[in-house]
Amino acid sequence: MDAEVFHDHYLLQAEWLAPGRHWLYRKIGLAGHERILDFGCGSGVITEEIRQICGRPVTAVDKDPEILEFARGKFPQNKYRIGNENDLLEEKQRFDLIVLSFVLMWQRLPLIFLKKMKKLLDTGGTLLILAEPDYGGRIDYPPKLDFLKDIFSCHILQSGGDPYLGRKLKSLLQKSGFRSEVGLASCLNYPESYQTDVWDREWRFWQQLAGLNDLTLKKISRLEIDAARRRERLVVFPVFYAIAGSL
Ligand SMILES: C[S@@+](CC[C@H](N)C(=O)[O-])C[C@H]1O[C@@H](n2cnc3c(N)ncnc32)[C@H](O)[C@@H]1O
Repeated sequence: MDAEVFHDHYLLQAEWLAPGRHWLYRKIGLAGHERILDFGCGSGVITEEIRQICGRPVTAVDKDPEILEFARGKFPQNKYRIGNENDLLEEKQRFDLIVLSFVLMWQRLPLIFLKKMKKLLDTGGTLLILAEPDYGGRIDYPPKLDFLKDIFSCHILQSGGDPYLGRKLKSLLQKSGFRSEVGLASCLNYPESYQTDVWDREWRFWQQLAGLNDLTLKKISRLEIDAARRRERLVVFPVFYAIAGSL
C-alpha cells in the first residue's frame, strides 16, 4: 500500500487524538526539551507537530524506507534516519525526550524494546508514550457493529502486533525499570454525523490493509449510516498514554 494512504490514516488518527496529545505536551513542558526523538515516526505527522511547537528540528526514525522518504519529502525540516533501536544504541545516541505513538503495540518483544528505549534516554530523560490502544476494551453501539473490534484485533494479531497492549502498558514499564504515570489519552466518542467522505477513505484503508471484501465494507457503511441517522452511534475506544522516567 502506498505511503500516501498510510499518511491519510495517520493524519485522521492524529486528529482524533489531538486534545489528549496536546494536554500531554503541556503536562511534560514539551518545548523545554532539547534533543527529541520521534521513534517509529511513520509519515512524520507527530514529528512535524512537535517541531512546530518546539521551533527546532526533531530527530525522526523509522525502519520502513518508503514511509520515511515520504516523511522527508512532506516535512523536510526534521532530521530523518532509517533504522531501529539497535542502530541508535550502536551509535551511542542519547535523547532527553523519546516519543512513541502507536509503536509499542508492534514490537515482538515489548519489554526488551522498552529496556532499549531506556538506554537511549539521558539521565533524567522522559519517555512519552502518546498512544497505545486496547481493542479488547472497545465498545461499539448499536450491537450490530460489535464485530468491528474483532476485525481490527484479528488484523493486528495476524500482522504481528498486540491489539491489547494498552492494558499491559503500566506493567511493561514497571518491569523494564521505568516509573510511570499511565492513563487514558482518549476514549473516542464518534459524533452523531457520519462524514461519508472521511469514513469511505478510512474504510478503504482497512479494506486494503486487512483484506476486507466489498460486501463487508458495504455492510459496515450501511450500519454506520443507519446508526448515525438514528443518532445512536457510539464508540468507546480506550487509547492509553504513559509518561515515564528511569526508576
Ligand atoms: C502505526 S505507525 C505510527 C506512525 C506514527 N508514530 C504516527 O503515530 O503517526 C508505526 C511506525 O513505527 C515503525 N516501527 C515499528 N517498530 C519499529 C522499530 N523497532 N524500529 C523502527 N521503526 C519501527 C513502523 O515502520 C511504522 O512506520
